[in-house]
Amino acid sequence: MEKLRINGKKKLSGQVSVQGSKNSTLPIVAGAILCEGKIILHNCPDLTDVTAAVNILESLGCKIRREKDTLIIDSTNITTSEISEKLMHEMRSSIVFLGALLARTGKANLSAPGGCEIGLRPIDLHLKALRELGVEIKEESGRLCCQVKDKIKGKEIALAFPSVGATENVMLAATLAQGRTTLINAAREPEIRNLADFLNSCGAKIYFAGESTIVIDGVRRLHDSEFRVISDRIVAATYMASAAVTGGEMDIINFPVSDIAPVLPFFYSSGCKITADENNLHIKAPKRLRSPGTVRTMPFPGFPTDFQAPAMAMAAVSDGTVIFIETIFESRYKHVSQLKRMGANISVEGSVAVVQGVARLSAANVYAEDLRGGIALVLAALAADGTSDVFNLKHIDRGYENIEENLSLLGADIKREV
Ligand code: EPZ
Repeated sequence: MEKLRINGKKKLSGQVSVQGSKNSTLPIVAGAILCEGKIILHNCPDLTDVTAAVNILESLGCKIRREKDTLIIDSTNITTSEISEKLMHEMRSSIVFLGALLARTGKANLSAPGGCEIGLRPIDLHLKALRELGVEIKEESGRLCCQVKDKIKGKEIALAFPSVGATENVMLAATLAQGRTTLINAAREPEIRNLADFLNSCGAKIYFAGESTIVIDGVRRLHDSEFRVISDRIVAATYMASAAVTGGEMDIINFPVSDIAPVLPFFYSSGCKITADENNLHIKAPKRLRSPGTVRTMPFPGFPTDFQAPAMAMAAVSDGTVIFIETIFESRYKHVSQLKRMGANISVEGSVAVVQGVARLSAANVYAEDLRGGIALVLAALAADGTSDVFNLKHIDRGYENIEENLSLLGADIKREV
């Protein structure tokens, strides 16, 4: 079984350039379906989730090739509106193809993505919003059979929760609609603006009317575009955490520093010294991290749920107690049992995890059960005494490009072994 063998306690230092954002690339790749032409996307990370999205596009009739971190997509011909069960289950967020397919072809037949390791992942908000746009949706034996009479009609819609995926699906479905769609209580994550910027680069008319309202004026068609995906804010924060847990000092470059603003107070309170300009950040960790107090995950611009697990690896070795309240996903503490195998002192009660920092963690064989929980185990192994083996790398490879190469260049003693 493939594993990362990590010999801990090495101070990390040096410079790392941040990969493209997985959570921007996925909806933008879906958005390419709306353009009857050629889309060139730069800064697309080479990840298994992105490969899954590319496989879906190819199954729909698109021609795609990758040149390093650039995807060249020709979506002139869409030959079907159906996505197979197998392809839908390769990646949970494939539901974002629904809105794009409906906008381009007027119909879509795909399976409901189902839950995943971190929660049930319902899609009721997606379906309610699409029905309000005039989409007929039949849910039968796990498949969604959707179609629109004529074209999608723009409308004012309010989301009961600022769901990232539901926001993206409405934006994609409304881009070629008749008339104006106003989306109220939309998600505000940076990936939403990146999707809007991409669609506007193809000729869409999407505006932000205030913090949580998005206005989409339907257009007849989109044209070719060449676009750069933003860098990954969660990956950037993860490298910051790798410096923090090893008492290291690091330059993290080529990412919009404002996107990680929600986690800066956590790093400051942990005793890290940070200087930054618009796209680059320098972090110097203290000898021993201090407790940063309570962490409550929230929609952007609150503390991101995707950074809860990496932050818990920091809390595990900090001096004091950290209380985590996970408000977004209902089973996002799968990394706790594995961190405890390494000597972490954590107790979980429902959505609350209380972490008493310990002086040191000890190496162990640990098993990733989801993407961000998996990287938290890597961080803990970097801090631990001795040699740890981290298994189930398929989870980590979904979101972190060249993780062992990058950490090794920063001074970690880490190898991928079969
Ligand atoms: C996106 O997932 C991200 N994935 C997630 O990142 C991220 O954790 C999440 O947003 C929150 O920021 C991608 O962008 C590919 P949501 P998404 O819809 O769109 C509930 C990672 O590690 N909800 O904002 O699925 C849902 O159950 C991944 O990179 C409904 O109830 O997130 C959850 O509790 C993990 N009904 C909350 O909303 C719905 O119809 C947030 O979900 C939709 C969502």
